[in-house]
Amino acid sequence: MKEALMQIKEKGVAEIRSAQSLKDLEAIKVKYLGKKGELTQILKGMGKLTAEERPVIGLVANEVRALLEETIAKEVSILEEKAMLEKLEQEKIDVSMPGKMPRKGGLHPLTKVLHELEDIFIGMGFSIAEGPEVEYDYYNFEALNLPKDHPARDTQDTFYISDNIVLRTQTSPMQIRTMEKQRPPIRVIAPGKVFRSDSVDATHSPVFHQIEGLVVDKGITMGDLKGTLELVVKKLYGEDAKIRFRPHHFPFTEPSAEVDVSCFVCKGEGCRVCKGEGWIEILGAGMVHPQVLRNCNIDPEVYSGFAFGIGLERLVMRSYDIDDLRLFFENDVRFLKQF
Ligand code: DAH
Repeated sequence: MKEALMQIKEKGVAEIRSAQSLKDLEAIKVKYLGKKGELTQILKGMGKLTAEERPVIGLVANEVRALLEETIAKEVSILEEKAMLEKLEQEKIDVSMPGKMPRKGGLHPLTKVLHELEDIFIGMGFSIAEGPEVEYDYYNFEALNLPKDHPARDTQDTFYISDNIVLRTQTSPMQIRTMEKQRPPIRVIAPGKVFRSDSVDATHSPVFHQIEGLVVDKGITMGDLKGTLELVVKKLYGEDAKIRFRPHHFPFTEPSAEVDVSCFVCKGEGCRVCKGEGWIEILGAGMVHPQVLRNCNIDPEVYSGFAFGIGLERLVMRSYDIDDLRLFFENDVRFLKQF
């Protein structure tokens, strides 16, 4: 019996050492130490031994079992470490491989140009104000010299929330809101959404954006208006950009003008972008009407001011040669990615 144990010991240890995998080791463990394993079988036969033999063989059998278990455990940890190293090798990251660029969003072209304009105005000492898109009729029309029956209201039909609350048709109500809150000197721009009851086509949208400008102080003249706009246009389009004033009518300015900039593509010679005119209309402007100042408790005998309203979409369309206004609002990334 002792010999059989010695054989099991030698054979077992040799098999364990040459095992190639954890699976092999498991099989070996079952083969020798399992319920029907070789060692177990021998131990079961111990009952037939004499009382003297039993402890001696028992001791050897336990030693063999301990040795096999220990050898298996050692081999398991060797194989496990090997497997881990192999895995690490396989999963190694090649840091020299080109990376995958995360997809990045960008600013909408309207936002981009608005930011450019805001920077220019801030540089000139203007502050930025924001006002409500749902506005009282009083601020949107009445206080701007557009009483209920004024024909100029026809061109700015809007969406009525109630008789005296509308979606603002222009950013000009911010002139009134600013002058009600602030005493001169005032230098402010107010960008934002405006709404008109227009159906959608290539040049119309029921929602678009304006940037209102307002300056009120002692001794403000049309010269200040011209100088300010000239500087803005030069910053936006380059040193050789020029502006031109054409007489116009707005109820809240007197005198009023529409302002053109020399075409930034052909420099005034006439091309597709300016439709052969050499000039592109970019805004409405004028000297703040004395009645508008009075409506805000500012004495027109002491103070004067100028105001202007820039149509942001039109400016951006002309700047980038975009011929359809709808592109701004459709959120097609193929369009938006170009800016
Ligand atoms: N609010 C005018 C419009 O929507 C644009 C405008 C004209 C604004 C003259 C002004 C201004 O401040 O002085 O048609």
